[in-house]
Amino acid sequence: MADTLRRAQLVREKLIELFGDADAERVEIVKAPGRVNLIGEHTDYNDGFVLPAAVDREIIMAASPRDDDEVHLYALDLDSRSSFSLSRIEPDEKATWSNYIRGVLLLLKERGLPVRGMNAVFSGDVPLGAGMSSSAALEMAAGVTAAVIGEFAVDMVELVKIAQAAENNFVGVNCGIMDQFISGLGKKGHALFLDCRSLDYELVPLPSNDEYKIVIANTMVKRGLVDSAYNERRSQCETGVEILKEYLPEIKALRDVSPADFAKYKDKLPPVVAKRCEHIVFENERVKESVKALQTGDVEEFGRLMRASHESLRDLYEVSCKELDIMVEAAWEAPGTCGARMTGAGFGGCTVNLVKAEAVDEFVDFVKASYAEKTGIDPEVYVCEAEDGAKRLEL
Ligand code: GLA
Repeated sequence: MADTLRRAQLVREKLIELFGDADAERVEIVKAPGRVNLIGEHTDYNDGFVLPAAVDREIIMAASPRDDDEVHLYALDLDSRSSFSLSRIEPDEKATWSNYIRGVLLLLKERGLPVRGMNAVFSGDVPLGAGMSSSAALEMAAGVTAAVIGEFAVDMVELVKIAQAAENNFVGVNCGIMDQFISGLGKKGHALFLDCRSLDYELVPLPSNDEYKIVIANTMVKRGLVDSAYNERRSQCETGVEILKEYLPEIKALRDVSPADFAKYKDKLPPVVAKRCEHIVFENERVKESVKALQTGDVEEFGRLMRASHESLRDLYEVSCKELDIMVEAAWEAPGTCGARMTGAGFGGCTVNLVKAEAVDEFVDFVKASYAEKTGIDPEVYVCEAEDGAKRLEL
């Protein structure tokens, strides 16, 4: 919270400094968190289940209304500006970060919502491009800010859908709904069990921060390959559904394929497609089992499921990489580890670890040293807590 207040103060002061005429009385502050996915990877675009948590790494946006229909943006951490008129919202080829905001405002306008001109400044500590959903956080910050400044109500789940559509259609990234959903609807101390088909969700209490910590370890690598590999996985899953439909006509997505049905028909699939589908079918089962394990306080079982998820992402879905495997293997050997796996789309980015609070310092030292020794890269490690989703801050 101390960091949140400091950052809120910083963006507020910058807004008043840059847009001198901004009326300090009318400055609004909004936060939107990054996320970590505890389990349920690549299941969201297969209509399946996920179990992410919003974390205490967030984007803070300060904004004030304007009397015209212009939007003036300043990304403090990048020292970059971007401006446009609400009557003509087009992608910015240079300040590409602004497209996450532009896309959301455009779609809100297209829904007939009274988006107003505004000045806005933002800053954050969600590491960029590290698989902690800095883009979803920026989209959700933009949506909530537009609603607060325009004084209109918009249902959070609707805003989540708008943010995802902005990323798919305006920014051009074919992501699922998980990241925006958890940035919008996360709750302090909880993970969120989401059915990505119906969008029904349930908050699942996490073990207390005094007992266990969520530790995110950043490999510091990002492969250029991630977008193309992501789209390739999506289409391999679709191919799997098309073939399995011949035998299971009622299925619409891999979510509808049970482990028993999969065992019966997997020989009908080309080998690579079969591997991809096997990951999804069993990952969905692991998410449901994880929810039960957390609800009954069986942290050991949850750790076992995290490990099985990583092995499946590594061997069947093939979205891990050398650095992620090294980081996870280091965690499996480290003091205090309950569970560890890669998190997010893969090919770099972060691992997520559930660690006994009393051993967290030793864990961090061990994993950092072991990773640096094997890769020559100094990783960043963030000890996190589950936080609330996007909202206006009353300061
Ligand atoms: C990225 C996407 C999500 C999800 C994950 C993989 O984070 O944005 O929608 O597909 O990858 O689980």
